[in-house]
Amino acid sequence: MAIRKGRVEDIPAFEYIDKLCFPQTIRYSRFDFIYYFFKNNVFTLVCEEGRRIQAFMIADVKSTEEGHIISIDVHPNYRRKGLGRNLMDEAEKIFMKLGIQRVTLEVHESNVLAQLFYSDMGYRLEKKLYNYYHSGHGLQMSKMLVAVKPEEKEEVEPIVVEAKSEQAQKQMTLERYQLT
Ligand SMILES: CC(C)(COP(=O)(O)OP(=O)(O)OC[C@H]1O[C@@H](n2cnc3c(N)ncnc32)[C@H](O)[C@@H]1OP(=O)(O)O)[C@@H](O)C(=O)NCCC(=O)NCCS
Repeated sequence: MAIRKGRVEDIPAFEYIDKLCFPQTIRYSRFDFIYYFFKNNVFTLVCEEGRRIQAFMIADVKSTEEGHIISIDVHPNYRRKGLGRNLMDEAEKIFMKLGIQRVTLEVHESNVLAQLFYSDMGYRLEKKLYNYYHSGHGLQMSKMLVAVKPEEKEEVEPIVVEAKSEQAQKQMTLERYQLT
């Protein structure tokens, strides 16, 4: 199993896995994934074995102080094998290299299994987010990361920080997936 940055051509796999993870009412659309791929300060990570994507995550850098987990999905066949943990560890490493110490995320109040997972990853309940989702309340959870000394801070790969020419790339993607 290897972890790498996500690529635009992974979007159909993201859609497929997301369908297996969530009901239609709350899952992401193809357009949501495209939006995240080209949004500044967002990065995606995938776990793959051979060329099969088993899990992915989407995260963003909200500010110089706050990293944020947008979504994490593990294909049902590959759960409880540490893939979720590996993806979270990798995202936290990226945040730490940027000098970010606080990571936040939101989870549906009824998604108890995800809450158990996040709590095992060291995330603690911060507050309830009333009507955060169409289908109910959310919970905000957060974690403080171990500080990285200034001299150990690293330049992180461009996908995290580079301002991309959004329009051109979005058009390319729409054409590639025949969405125009
Ligand atoms: C939540 C999710 C990402 C966990 O991924 P995973 O790869 O199965 O998790 P890991 O194997 O890394 O588990 C790490 C730890 O989290 C906890 N955990 C994970 N799944 C759990 C479950 N179903 N029940 C109880 N604890 C669980 C355990 O402590 C586990 O350690 P252990 O296996 O040594 O006991 C995965 O179940 C998933 O994709 N769920 C559907 C999508 C989802 O709800 N995403 C979160 C949206 S906010």
